[in-house]
Amino acid sequence: MSPSTSSRRGFLKSASVLAASVPFARLGLGQDGAVVARTLEKRRFGSTDMDVTVLGFGGAEIGYGGVEQAIVDKLLNAALDAGLNVVDTAECYADSEVQIASAIGHRRKEFFLFTKCGHWTEAGRGADWTKDGVTRSIERSLKRLKTDVVDLVQLHSCSLEELKKGECIDALEAAKKAGKTRYIGYSGDSQAARWAVESGRFDALQTSVNFADQECIELTLPLARDKKMGVIAKRPIANAAWRYDEHPSDGYHVEYWNRLQALKYEFASGDARKRSDAEGPAGIALRFTAMQPAVDVLIVGTTKPERWAQNAALLQAGPLPAEREAAIRARWKEVAKPEWIGQT
Ligand SMILES: NC(=O)c1ccc[n+]([C@@H]2O[C@H](COP(=O)([O-])OP(=O)(O)OC[C@H]3O[C@@H](n4cnc5c(N)ncnc54)[C@H](OP(=O)(O)O)[C@@H]3O)[C@@H](O)[C@H]2O)c1
Repeated sequence: MSPSTSSRRGFLKSASVLAASVPFARLGLGQDGAVVARTLEKRRFGSTDMDVTVLGFGGAEIGYGGVEQAIVDKLLNAALDAGLNVVDTAECYADSEVQIASAIGHRRKEFFLFTKCGHWTEAGRGADWTKDGVTRSIERSLKRLKTDVVDLVQLHSCSLEELKKGECIDALEAAKKAGKTRYIGYSGDSQAARWAVESGRFDALQTSVNFADQECIELTLPLARDKKMGVIAKRPIANAAWRYDEHPSDGYHVEYWNRLQALKYEFASGDARKRSDAEGPAGIALRFTAMQPAVDVLIVGTTKPERWAQNAALLQAGPLPAEREAAIRARWKEVAKPEWIGQT
């Protein structure tokens, strides 16, 4: 991308301009009556050659949730039919990689395939950030994904200390050189993510971005944009933590639930939580995340075949009005505690 295109891209992504711009998606019905994205906004993924749809698929839930293969088949094929072109998974999301290959491996040319590495060992537990460990993890993913090359491999949230040692990055760069992955990235948050962006060694950053997790909006996103990195928003719908009336039994959703209790956004409290349109919590969450600087794709996780079309429909409303976005940012700045760092 030329510098002029890049600065234009940065300009177009500023909230105030987006507020007056086109919707993230326009939907219609296909021949069989299914919802299809007539136009789903595509964004150039950093300085790569990929134009990614603003709404992608996060593969953790199908793996951890042990979702039946027939449901995964339906979910992923419907999403591809309707226009999605990014599928993100990882080495350690149980059998997510295998489920994805089985469901849409035959359609490999129709989507960009992203995975992660390092958070897996031969023993099946823990992580191995040595050069051999990372290399083995990538080889295993290629086999499980039934492909010779993926579009992106990301270090799966290794610590700042491991990043500084550098062995894991060397292994990733070697995999790129060997043609096993077209691009390389870091998936993680806070100071480790900042270091990864500053290092200039990664094509992409995957990081938590949502209205209950805003540290990255100043810490890493502007710099990632300056460095022309592709940016993937993980946990983009804040784990839908507002859905719980009481403290969630799923420990993974507790942190955002606690934060929402303190943030007291009116649209994510009381009866307002029940709204399922673009002005309800899910719609506001997605629209807020999609308009943050440098964000290219939101990888929403789900176990439900109908979700992707629902979420694409919510994005039809386009960016939040500038005042609403500013109010969400202001509330965060007022309420967020120093320990509310980006959640891995
Ligand atoms: N360290 C890392 O690298 C890391 C960490 C976390 C996540 N990730 C990646 O990011 C992806 C997304 O993160 P995530 O799944 O944790 O968080 P998320 O996408 O913010 O939340 C997913 C949850 O939201 C629910 N949901 C989705 N759309 C909804 C809607 N319109 N209304 C109500 N609920 C809705 C889903 O439930 P249903 O099943 O009911 O749809 C699911 O339980 C993961 O799948 C993974 O690929 C990476």
